[in-house]
Amino acid sequence: MTHQVTIRNTGHRFPAQDGSTILQSALDAGLVLPYGCRDGACGSCKGKLVDGRIDYGRYSEKALTAQERAQGYALFCQAKPLSDVAIEAREVRKAGDIQVRKLPARVQKLERAADDAMIVYLKLPANERLMYLPGQYIDILLKDGTRRSFSMANAPHDDEFVQLHVRHVPGGAFTDHVFQTMKERDILRLEGPFGTFFLRDESDKPIVLVASGTGFAPIKALIEAAFKKGVKRPMRLYWGARRPKDLYLNGLAERWVAEHSGFEYVPVISDALPEDNWSGRTGFVHRAVMDDLSDLSGHQVYACGVPIMVDSARRDFIQNCRLPENEFFADSFTTAADKAR
Ligand SMILES: Cc1cc2nc3c(=O)[nH]c(=O)nc-3n(C[C@H](O)[C@H](O)[C@H](O)COP(=O)(O)OP(=O)(O)OC[C@H]3O[C@@H](n4cnc5c(N)ncnc54)[C@H](O)[C@@H]3O)c2cc1C
Ligand code: FES
Repeated sequence: MTHQVTIRNTGHRFPAQDGSTILQSALDAGLVLPYGCRDGACGSCKGKLVDGRIDYGRYSEKALTAQERAQGYALFCQAKPLSDVAIEAREVRKAGDIQVRKLPARVQKLERAADDAMIVYLKLPANERLMYLPGQYIDILLKDGTRRSFSMANAPHDDEFVQLHVRHVPGGAFTDHVFQTMKERDILRLEGPFGTFFLRDESDKPIVLVASGTGFAPIKALIEAAFKKGVKRPMRLYWGARRPKDLYLNGLAERWVAEHSGFEYVPVISDALPEDNWSGRTGFVHRAVMDDLSDLSGHQVYACGVPIMVDSARRDFIQNCRLPENEFFADSFTTAADKAR
């Protein structure tokens, strides 16, 4: 059975087959709604059900609270229509001609960049290219049928290798493998691109980029693509890590400052040891942004990394720094632990 979904605020309509989520049905129809994890863990796909009935699916209470659900909100990556429905959602843009594809890839190089960060270079088959918007991610398809998401760290124009920055999650099936047993020339299967974390280039507002740990990966792609395109908007990057050695591409960020006027870089360290001789900014990375920019009403913010940072930044920037809700863009690097209900 097919149900009709109407996006009330834009007037678009699309069909949803029985058992298909609202997000997947929208994507199938060439309409992009905001989303991140596609797993009920991050909350990026939250929108309002204004009419009709849905199966809310399985999700984390952190992504959709009972109060939000009572107010009419749902997670469209999980919600399945049980009747014709009307929703309110932000539309991102037409999916255009970027096709989601499955491809094999060979591990070309493994570069240990920090104690818990590995840069993985993947080589696609000859004559194959992965089209994507800088900031998007791919899924690595594992043999047991599960998948793990990683953001492309290379901008699309720099496409000799697909570059991933993988943080080691101890006890994690895939990242344990990356750090312990993966070898150069291993073959992986991947699918992508996915996600709606990319530069909104229709705006001319100054850009604040906030990364924690390997959240630097999609932000690197976004910045390098903006430089290549000649984007003139002021950009300020805040990169947070526990210790200075965890800022695994600090030299690259410093080079961007030297080479691009209008680009600023603020490294922020939360747990420096005396031997680090750290004299720079300290504390939580999103707090450093708030100390410098108490009024974000004229900015756009792009944040990526661990869920606690992304959630705190969203909440505090909107509540305390006047950032308009629709000017905050993020990918929250959720793991199975965040999805556990
Ligand atoms: C859109 C997106 C983009 C991402 N991009 C990046 C990126 O560029 N770089 C990056 O480093 N990370 C990224 N991530 C996060 C990355 O996908 C995860 O860190 C990765 O999936 C962990 O995989 P794993 O197999 O090692 O861990 P998993 O096996 O998935 O386990 C993760 C953790 O959860 C625990 N766990 C497993 N099952 C359960 C359970 N049932 N209950 C409770 N705990 C459980 C494990 O012990 C472990 O600590 C991204 C995530 C998303 C959603
Ligand atoms: S995309 Fe729906 S909760 Fe993350």
